[in-house]
Amino acid sequence: MASDGSQELMTEQASNYAVETSALVKTYAGRNGQPSVHALNGIDLKVPKGAFFGLLGPNGAGKSTLINVLAGLVVRSSGTARIWGFDIDRDMRAARRAIGVVPQELNLDPFFTPRELLELQAGLYGVPKARRRTDAILEAVGLTRQSDAYARSLSGGMRRRLLVAKAMVHAPPILVLDEPTAGVDVELRRHLWAYVRELNRAGTTILLTTHYLEEAQALCDRIAIIDHGQMIACDTTDALLRRIDSKTMTITLDRTLTTVPETLATRFHAQLVAPARLSFRYAPSQVHGGEILAAIAAADLGVVEITTRETELEDIFLALTGRRTAPADEQAERPAAVPLNGPVSGSAEGLG
Ligand SMILES: Nc1ncnc2c1ncn2[C@@H]1O[C@H](COP(=O)(O)OP(=O)(O)O)[C@@H](O)[C@H]1O
Ligand SMILES: [Mg+2]
Repeated sequence: MASDGSQELMTEQASNYAVETSALVKTYAGRNGQPSVHALNGIDLKVPKGAFFGLLGPNGAGKSTLINVLAGLVVRSSGTARIWGFDIDRDMRAARRAIGVVPQELNLDPFFTPRELLELQAGLYGVPKARRRTDAILEAVGLTRQSDAYARSLSGGMRRRLLVAKAMVHAPPILVLDEPTAGVDVELRRHLWAYVRELNRAGTTILLTTHYLEEAQALCDRIAIIDHGQMIACDTTDALLRRIDSKTMTITLDRTLTTVPETLATRFHAQLVAPARLSFRYAPSQVHGGEILAAIAAADLGVVEITTRETELEDIFLALTGRRTAPADEQAERPAAVPLNGPVSGSAEGLG
């Protein structure tokens, strides 16, 4: 970690990545005879500048550890990390200035008001009085009316937004949000996302951790999935969703059946899911929905209704990690993952 001279520093600052980690490892020492915890097992992460990037993973995957290493709150065991091209050791001050972190914990001093907290934070980052935007930030996060109320009187959602405001005080080019909507109601969640989206549109790189897949799917243009401290996928959201070449079409028929017609069973693996309903699971790259409909007509069956289900991020997650994104206490057991054609490229096998 010694200084290597300015030449290298300049090339590093020219980085295209807002965040770049290489072989990042964090092992927490075991306490009281407990074994040590391998929270990060060699993470290579590249977050392009301007991205709205999602870091997904079940509880305990290592998301907060990764964020906290970037924020300078946790000391990594090995590997390197750069923020806006600045090495987090060698150029610590510059690296810290480039990032604003909204922590997972609602750690606010209850006896300060939102205005005082933002002013204090601005002071910590050496933002001159003339350049402070306290009122504008409070307004942007919808806390104007609460500016002078004690933080302890704020609701959970308001505290979360105050933490976002705090992270933005020094106008960092990267905003990191660690599980920002846990415990936030729908209304406030919308408000928060509108604000974060606006920041992203205006050029701020967003790095967000969540275990709400719908949220990541809706917001993020790129997604990395980590599990057991390892990166198991990293791609654009669209490419990730395309990995599973599987769709389900359910067709309600104009009459009841007792068995699946032979042609439909062999060619399309149709299943009778109700007396008058057939379900088809197919690979869109191999079979067109129209072929299924033609086969149904050829079997002399009439169609009353058709529904299809697209791949969702939850399916990808399940295929990669072998589990759904359930809360920690439901994750004690870990079934074997359904194999994909390699975690980094190629499309998925059927999910059987
Ligand atoms: N301060 C700590 N000391 C020991 N173990 C920790 C500490 N912080 C986190 N861990 C462990 O490291 C692993 C990763 O945790 P964390 O980074 O919080 O995951 P996530 O944010 O994805 O839920 C977990 O097994 C957790 O119990
Ligand atoms: Mg966490």
